[in-house]
Amino acid sequence: MRFGLLHTLTTALSLVSPSHAARILMGNDDGFGSGNLREFYRLLKEAGHDVIIVAPVINQSAQGGRSDFTTAANLTAPGQYNIVPAGAPSVGPDPNDSHIWYYNGTPAACTFVALDYVLPRYFPDWNQSPDLFVSGPNFGVNLGPIVFTLTGTLGATYAAVSRSIPGIAFSASNDAIAYTNVTNSSNPATWAASVSVNIVEAFLNGTSEGQSVLPLGYGVNVNIPPLTSDAMPEVVRSRLTGEADTDIAVFNETTKLFKYGNVVPKAAGVNACINGDCNLPGETWVVQGGSISVSIFTIDYDAPDVAYTNSVFAKIDGLTGGGDEGNSSTTYKKRVVGKNGVIPEKLLSGRDNIAR
Ligand SMILES: *[C@@H]1O[C@H](CO)[C@@H](O)[C@H](O)[C@H]1NC(C)=O
Ligand SMILES: *[C@@H]1O[C@H](CO)[C@@H](O)[C@H](O)[C@H]1NC(C)=O
Ligand SMILES: *[C@@H]1O[C@H](CO)[C@@H](O)[C@H](O)[C@H]1NC(C)=O
Ligand SMILES: *[C@@H]1O[C@H](CO)[C@@H](O)[C@H](O)[C@H]1NC(C)=O
Ligand SMILES: *[C@@H]1O[C@H](CO)[C@@H](O)[C@H](O)[C@H]1NC(C)=O
Ligand SMILES: *[C@@H]1O[C@H](CO)[C@@H](O)[C@H](O)[C@H]1NC(C)=O
Ligand SMILES: *[C@@H]1O[C@H](CO)[C@@H](O)[C@H](O)[C@H]1NC(C)=O
Ligand SMILES: *[C@@H]1O[C@H](CO)[C@@H](O)[C@H](O)[C@H]1NC(C)=O
Repeated sequence: MRFGLLHTLTTALSLVSPSHAARILMGNDDGFGSGNLREFYRLLKEAGHDVIIVAPVINQSAQGGRSDFTTAANLTAPGQYNIVPAGAPSVGPDPNDSHIWYYNGTPAACTFVALDYVLPRYFPDWNQSPDLFVSGPNFGVNLGPIVFTLTGTLGATYAAVSRSIPGIAFSASNDAIAYTNVTNSSNPATWAASVSVNIVEAFLNGTSEGQSVLPLGYGVNVNIPPLTSDAMPEVVRSRLTGEADTDIAVFNETTKLFKYGNVVPKAAGVNACINGDCNLPGETWVVQGGSISVSIFTIDYDAPDVAYTNSVFAKIDGLTGGGDEGNSSTTYKKRVVGKNGVIPEKLLSGRDNIAR
């Protein structure tokens, strides 16, 4: 695989930054002119990686995993920060950088447009198979399970994971800044990008030749506390649940409108520990403590095969037949399929366009 040679070389030469040169596809939800995204892009390239951005032409925050494609072939309004004018095609490159693309759709839609349009048409040597997808860093942290359906930063990422591409979502604590306003290297956008690159490098460094950066169906959620320099805060293994917030609808009697707030005290439902290591700290707690949280998720949303799950199925035994598998064992058991209609055998492989 293409990782191979460079990895061997850098290891042999004991370079300071012994990472693989990887093909990295980037997205976000804040828009393709985000200072965080552009700094992340710049520093990933500086680290030697081959990088392509496909991100929303305007701010598409809070779209979750919604995949919304525009119905207009051309932009009806200028793109973010007037980088592209109204009337320009709804998908296209930045006028100044052919590796930075915009699309007039949601973050998840941008991931699919990247994989099915931008890469095959303009970067055919990528074989539609980036080594890694990264999103962000978002302006504002994305903590706890509710962000899974709420934020486009995660939505773009699990779209990639669903297409068998390892995905890491990055969210930082800094305020929005346009890339054109990033004029030096000592500002929060560059700091957030810098620590994000360190985390990418660690994942690549920890991946041996021929391996996928993450197992199939796995993704990572990284949250970064407020930074005052590019120094790495402590990095902590965490879980999505634990101290996590969820929403409450707050009604204003004067305006007759709702706003969201956080449930106080914290809700039990969003913090139920069902999968993973229940002893790990919640990411919300970790970031409040000033550290970087790294949580691992899967997009297999099935409940685990435990007593609780069985007790739920048992309630409808009258419909499905009793016993561990109900009567599915007779008809449907044979039809548990993976992608391309086969049972996946090599769980550490799996980019869809790489022959296995
Ligand atoms: C979009 O713009 C192109 C020129 O950039 C023009 O040729 C085309 O007709 C436009 N399409 C629509 C649907 O307006
Ligand atoms: C592109 O680069 C030119 C010259 O470097 C600059 O004047 C212009 O503002 C840039 N445009 C964008 C959209 O960044
Ligand atoms: C996009 O919108 C969200 C929500 O309003 C906001 O938090 C974020 O800062 C915005 N991003 C940019 C680049 O303006
Ligand atoms: C960029 O800088 C200009 C000029 O200082 C300021 O007016 C604008 O609000 C800034 N915008 C963003 C998104 O950083
Ligand atoms: C760097 O840019 C930021 C704005 O992005 C500004 O607040 C700061 O003063 C600048 N620092 C230096 C050393 O120029
Ligand atoms: C790279 O990985 C090796 C072995 O897994 C480890 O010893 C080393 O500290 C890592 N370096 C970086 C920069 O992550
Ligand atoms: C309700 O909305 C009004 C008008 O915006 C505002 O002045 C008031 O503070 C709000 N009330 C509460 C309890 O937030
Ligand atoms: C499955 O089991 C239920 C309950 O025993 C029965 O009513 C149903 O006909 C069975 N379906 C099939 C396809 O065997």
